[in-house]
Amino acid sequence: MNKRALITGITGQDGSYLSEFLLSKDYEIHGLIRRASTFNTGRIDHIYTDPHLSGARLFLHHGDLSDPGQLTDLIYNVQPEEIYHLGAQSHVRVSFDAPEYTGDITGLGTTRLLEAIRRSGIKTKYYQASSSELFGASHPPQNEQTPFYPRSPYAASKLYAYWMTVNYREGYNLFACNGILFNHESPRRGETFVTRKITRALANILSGNQKELYIGNLESKRDWGFAPEYVEMMWLMLNQEKPNDYVVGTGVSYSVKDFINTAFSYAGLEIEWRGTDIETKGILKSMDTKVSASLKTGNVLIVIDPRYFRPTEVNFLQADISKAKRELGWEPRIHFSELVKVMVDYDLKMVGLGCPGEGAAACKAKGFGYTDHSTSLYEKVRQGQ
Ligand code: NAP
Ligand code: GDD
Repeated sequence: MNKRALITGITGQDGSYLSEFLLSKDYEIHGLIRRASTFNTGRIDHIYTDPHLSGARLFLHHGDLSDPGQLTDLIYNVQPEEIYHLGAQSHVRVSFDAPEYTGDITGLGTTRLLEAIRRSGIKTKYYQASSSELFGASHPPQNEQTPFYPRSPYAASKLYAYWMTVNYREGYNLFACNGILFNHESPRRGETFVTRKITRALANILSGNQKELYIGNLESKRDWGFAPEYVEMMWLMLNQEKPNDYVVGTGVSYSVKDFINTAFSYAGLEIEWRGTDIETKGILKSMDTKVSASLKTGNVLIVIDPRYFRPTEVNFLQADISKAKRELGWEPRIHFSELVKVMVDYDLKMVGLGCPGEGAAACKAKGFGYTDHSTSLYEKVRQGQ
């Protein structure tokens, strides 16, 4: 009998990679999706099969984290052995514009799900997508003992969800784990998160479709890892003997400016930074020959737009991964420069340009099959087994 998992947020970056991973482990998967007037399943279309066909193992159910009745029905009907709660309004900047909505979906949505589990009376394991944003203004490196200091409505909502998860573990004996994950990226990253915004802008600049990249705080530092690796950790947490909370990251941090320099340099463009504060500009200093006919040295390619600043910023996140290393055997496989290359390669391909291909080669060398939207990472799933 296949194990059954329920995934909220299945259409998101992590939900799509987790689905592939669980399919490769022979799970039957049930995903909660929001009804939308246009298709929102682009990241999972390649693994979806008609549920009428025999052998179908991925099933989608309409619902919303704002609707407790639907959640209870779904959990009672599906009776999943594992629940991965990834659904959220996950954008930090947006949470300042929509604080109440973010609290409702990202915070209370978690309680609705936990209550649905309790009321349906099923025995299950629960993964909570907690975040390094919980640490906010606390000094790096951050680990499971570091005090939380949330700096946005998103982080405050995730803090509430974190403690509700602990409360259901302690109060109702639910096998519940918080994965406190640091930023993780991929070619499937949402287009308005900074890494993907940079790699897409780079590709558009090179193809002549965009002149400048408008950006916010260049100095903040993040511990950026590779999303497909992180979803494997979610599964691992639920498959320990006892439930526990874990920090997952790479242990190394870079600034937004570092990310831009690394991405542009990989594509053959060297950036020189001039000016200070909001007058800072990224100027094309030199480029490999034949990179792009429309670009000239001296062009301004990066400009600050204060619209992207946050009322309260999280300046420096860096994971102390000792516990996950010790107890889960965690060791990041894809490092910063490889991650950047994977994302740049993909976005160059998306605009029809050739790419150096070092990102794909690094992935292959480290056991990751494919990383784009239309193909699965896992051999078994690729072969339709
Ligand atoms: P994402 O790409 O933004 O995906 C969010 C998912 O939540 C999407 O499937 C979205 O559906 C769904 N969702 C949003 N509002 C919903 C609602 N009202 N009802 C039901 N579903 C709803 O996020 P991600 O990067 O995959 O991250 C997954 C989870 O991990 C999130 O909870 C995020 O906060 C957390 N996290 C992420 C990171 C990271 O670096 N990626 C780090 C730490 C924690 P639509 O497709 O319909 O919008
Ligand atoms: N999005 C964005 N857009 N961020 C920018 C920009 C810009 O134009 N310019 C600078 N930044 C800075 C932000 O101010 C922040 O310091 C950093 O880049 C990263 O921003 P995001 O990529 O939006 O990610 P995040 O760190 O705020 O949040 C992500 O990671 C969290 C884990 O730490 C999200 O995935 C959250 O859901 C997740 O919990």
